[in-house]
Parts: sequence; C-alpha cells; structure tokens
Amino acid sequence: MSILTHEAVMTEEVLESLIHSRKGLYVDCTFGAGGHSSRILEELNKDGKLLSMDKDKNATRFLSKKFTKDSRFKIINDSFSQLSLYVENETVSGVLIDLGISSTQLDDSDRGFSFQLDGPLDMRIDNSQGISAEEWINTATKKEIEDVFWVLGEDRFSRRIAKKICDIRIKNPIRTTKELSEIVLSAVSRKSKKHPATNIFRAIRMKINEELEELYKVLEASSYALCFGGRLAVISFHSIEDRIVKRFIQGKDRVDTSVKFSYIGDRFIKATSEEIKRNPRSRSAILRVAEKVA
Ligand SMILES: C[S@@+](CC[C@H](N)C(=O)[O-])C[C@H]1O[C@@H](n2cnc3c(N)ncnc32)[C@H](O)[C@@H]1O
Repeated sequence: MSILTHEAVMTEEVLESLIHSRKGLYVDCTFGAGGHSSRILEELNKDGKLLSMDKDKNATRFLSKKFTKDSRFKIINDSFSQLSLYVENETVSGVLIDLGISSTQLDDSDRGFSFQLDGPLDMRIDNSQGISAEEWINTATKKEIEDVFWVLGEDRFSRRIAKKICDIRIKNPIRTTKELSEIVLSAVSRKSKKHPATNIFRAIRMKINEELEELYKVLEASSYALCFGGRLAVISFHSIEDRIVKRFIQGKDRVDTSVKFSYIGDRFIKATSEEIKRNPRSRSAILRVAEKVA
C-alpha cells in the first residue's frame, strides 16, 4: 500500500473559473485525495455546499476531520455517471470532473494500474464490481484486444502486441502487471524514453472502467444538474477525453442539444511551467471550463 498522496492539478485555475457564487451547491465528481474539494470548501461561505463523489471506496472511506466535521460537505461513494440520482435539475452552481486515477491509486501496486510496479492485474477503480484486467486480457478475443489498443491506446503496434498476448496466454494465463509489461516489451523494440506499455496499460484501464462511456454520461447529467450560469470544469489527461469534452461544450455528440454552453475565458487552460516543475503529472492536463447559458 502506498503512502504517497495525490497532488491536485491546476487548483487555483479551477477555483477561479468554477466558483462564481460562494453560497452555491458545488459537485466534485472525482474526490480522489480531496485536494480540489478541500480548496472548494475554503472558498465557499457558510451557506455554500459541496457534494463530492468517488467510486473508489478507498478514496471515500478514510476522510480527514476537515471533511467529516464540515456540515457543508457530503460524500457519495458512487460513479459520477449516477449524478442525477443525487441532485435536482438546475440546482448546481458548479461541477468539477478531474478525470483518470490519482497518484495514490497508481502508486498502489495492489491495484494493478502501474506497469512499473509488480502486482495483480486488477485495474478496477471500484474493485467490488466488474471484471478485472486479468480476466479481460485472458478471455477477450484477439480482435477485441487489438481494437482496444488501437482505439484507446492509439498504439501503432496494437496488432503485434495483441498477437503476442494471445500466443502466450494459451500456455500461461497472464496474472501480473510485470508479466504483461514484459510481454509488451518483448513484442516491440523500445526506441524512445516512453515505455511501450504506457499506452497499453492506459487503454486497458479505460476499457475495464468504461471511462469514455462514464464521461459521456456525466457530461449529459451535468448539463441538467447545472443552473443557468452554472459552470462545468473538466480536467482531462488524454486527447480522446479532451475531444469528447470539447465537442460536448460545442453542443456536438449529445442526446439533448437544447442546453448550451459558452467558454469562460480561454477555450482551454494548461498548467504553468512552475506547476509542471513541481508536479510533472500536470504536464498533460487540459482544463476546460464552460458556463451553462441556455
Ligand atoms: C485524478 S483523481 C482526482 C483527484 C482529486 N481531484 C484530488 O484533488 O485529489 C480521479 C478520481 O476519480 C475517481 N473516478 C474515476 N472514475 C470515476 C467515476 N466514473 N465515478 C466516480 N469516481 C471516479 C478515481 O477513483 C479517482 O479517485
């Protein structure tokens, strides 16, 4: 179990654009280690409220006193796609979605998210339900594996890696993160600094947790939950997610296009060089903040 904790990214930029009324109801869909939630609570006045969600029980189980003693705060252990179960339409002043997983989850070898640590191949954010990465990698068809590596991993060696996995699993099922990262490494030669398993592990995690489907659902749910003038702030770490957010704000790929959004300030915000130096994870973060205008 890791003792490292997660450092929230672009916190000041998030607060500046998200909080427009200090007495509003805000939703932090991705509580994680509570960095953003903690700062949101500091900004709100005594009438403000914060509802935070995380589907990882580990994230919500051990809350610090800062949260448990604050009557303005409530935490829900559920998927953010279920947001509409917990808030009324047009009552929320701001929704924050900080996508992906936290460093705390990544650095815990028992969770199986990291190709740099050896552990069971799990990768479920909520490990009480769904199938693990181990089950998926040992049972999915070669075509399905190729497609996940190609579409979610954008990996040009997707076919070669999928074939190698299928050749090996017939003899020995793949059980650990180390076994899988070694298989990936043996299928492609390592030419750059980036480990070839980087994209493959991220793709499997996105597949196992249905991350894109969850994103579409939470964006749609947020569009109903937000009041007029309410703000939607999304931090993504990958171009596929960012494209979905961008198109959603533009009114594209939606079930209901009657709700309209307009950007607050710049279309997207990146971390400052000082932040990237302090927290290299912020390098690939893209923040988009938009206001519900109709
Ligand atoms: C990048 S971390 C958030 C970090 C957080 N903003 C902080 O300040 O510590 C993403 C969090 O979202 C959670 N998460 C991912 N997908 C989720 C989903 N569909 N529903 C609810 N929580 C989710 C993960 O468990 C993880 O704790």
